[in-house]
Amino acid sequence: MTNNLKPNPLLEMQYQQLAEIAGCLWEKGWAERNAGNISLNITGLFTDESISKPAKLQSVNLDENYSALAGMSFLVTCTGSRMRDLARLPKENSVIIRISDNGSSYQLIPVADNKLETKPPTSELITHLGIHSLVAKRGTPEKVIIHTHATELIALTQHPGYKSAESLNHLLWGMHPETMIFVPGGIGFVPYTLPGSEAIAKLSIQCFEQHDIIVWEKHGVFAIGETVSDTFDKIDILCKSAKIYFMCRSAGFVPEGLSLSQLDELRTLTKKFSTQ
Ligand code: 13P
Ligand code: ZN
Repeated sequence: MTNNLKPNPLLEMQYQQLAEIAGCLWEKGWAERNAGNISLNITGLFTDESISKPAKLQSVNLDENYSALAGMSFLVTCTGSRMRDLARLPKENSVIIRISDNGSSYQLIPVADNKLETKPPTSELITHLGIHSLVAKRGTPEKVIIHTHATELIALTQHPGYKSAESLNHLLWGMHPETMIFVPGGIGFVPYTLPGSEAIAKLSIQCFEQHDIIVWEKHGVFAIGETVSDTFDKIDILCKSAKIYFMCRSAGFVPEGLSLSQLDELRTLTKKFSTQ
């Protein structure tokens, strides 16, 4: 007998959403090879009784303590997994982890029908857990984190003039009015730091105190949201703006951008909607 999580319609929905968004990332061209990773907070979607467990569940120690996440469960993509494979086989390319009651380790919860040997969670796990922890501490409703190699936004960070949140947001908001409407908090900027490191996790968490989406210089973006769709939308909208900018430059002209007063007008409108 194996350790398996019994079939559960709520969890099945999460797998469907994971598969759908993985397909979108692949279609967008943001997911070469194993690029990108996704985590979903699925706390409360299954009970201990739904795990048949003749043997002890595998436990992995964490270098940091995540007390704000104690007892919480996450669906996380496996390291090395391809988004195009996740789109077809979400269970085989992801794991469910549950943070221990003291926040210092996690257990791997085996999933029914997962016939392949389980790979470890993403190499960016500490950034994902750090961001989920920030969300838990402040009590906001975000459940989804997407990291992807969004080409257009990465390209911008190759330019010395776009290595700050201020310069990036001025450019991106100016390319299309809906960018300000749907991403009013703008994008945060993390200077180049080794991927998978504690240093990049810390810088990212700081950046998420002010933004719902951040860009890692010359690497990719991280975004958070309540659902996979609204998380994806934030990345998509900012990429649209970046694309407009590059398209204008390729056509041989520098885009005008929206004026400061036009941006202020949009900011006021956005604030009015968010307080209604
Ligand atoms: P993983 O395959 O470990 O998730 O890494 C992909 C990635 O994009 C690293 O930044
Ligand atoms: Zn990456």
